[in-house]
Amino acid sequence: MLKEAIQEVRVFAPATVANVACGYDVLGFAIDAPGDEVVVRHCQKPGLHITAITGDEGKLPKNPEKNTAGVAALDLLRHLGMTDLGIEMEIHKKMPFGSGLGSSAASAVAGAYAVNRLIGEPLSKKQLLPFAMAGEASADGAWHADNVGPCLLGGIVFIRSNDELDVAQLPAPKNLWAAVVHPDIEVLTKVAREILPKDIPLVNATQQIGNLGGLLCGIIQEDYGLISRSIHDVIAEPRRQKLIPEFYKAKRAALAAGALGFSISGAGPSVFALCEGEESAKKVGDAISKVFSAIPLGNQVYISRINPHGVHVVEEKKSK
Ligand code: HSE
Repeated sequence: MLKEAIQEVRVFAPATVANVACGYDVLGFAIDAPGDEVVVRHCQKPGLHITAITGDEGKLPKNPEKNTAGVAALDLLRHLGMTDLGIEMEIHKKMPFGSGLGSSAASAVAGAYAVNRLIGEPLSKKQLLPFAMAGEASADGAWHADNVGPCLLGGIVFIRSNDELDVAQLPAPKNLWAAVVHPDIEVLTKVAREILPKDIPLVNATQQIGNLGGLLCGIIQEDYGLISRSIHDVIAEPRRQKLIPEFYKAKRAALAAGALGFSISGAGPSVFALCEGEESAKKVGDAISKVFSAIPLGNQVYISRINPHGVHVVEEKKSK
């Protein structure tokens, strides 16, 4: 029987919450929505061509060498010696830049994953990590897998080493939900990284390591009390909170509404709360949203379980 070849594939890559308070650059999780979509199809003209970009307000370049999804896909094709293959790519952005939702990581992951799928999946998801990383790094100039890792693999991903790309996927506690709120302002990751100190006091390093270890143990043991006691960031949050209006008011509102913990999602301005159960997450999301709305500042609330799958195929067209 002839194997059906894939002619066209549409993939969805989810938003991610990086750092998760105490895991700066080394911990992240995926949520169900929002996320970016990328469509790739075979074409006659050799090389990778970005034919359409939607939802980016004209901000993204169509030159694949300058586009996160394009860079990731090209890096993969170069690795496989297939740069002459004719491929058209469409990018559909569903989340804003500088949102703290892992927008560039989602595009990079979607670009690499879609092309890999189109050519018959020569690499596993985990093997795509360096190519997706190259795509994201082309956007923010930094090398951290805490968005790309969970976007690609799903679940909660811990990165032992960003240099070696040594990552471990943790099973999410069944009833762990996230409330993620994006206020309508932009924070560039580059700027949010520049305001962080190069050195930190030993006392802060010790606190952060304790909390990170506690959070990982709490996740593995499904111990919501330990998770709650561990969601503290003494390094980035105190410096970055000033980029987010009414940050501490939103934090107090989230905790009062029952959140296990609250902090900045990635480099911000989105914030997140971890909660036990969907109902609690809805209540907490509402409480955070009210704080921003009162400023007034428009905002979007996303309530999600921890997405266990990461990037996936939405639709495929095959031919004999
Ligand atoms: N870990 C990164 C940071 C995430 O906090 O700068 C950026 O998306």
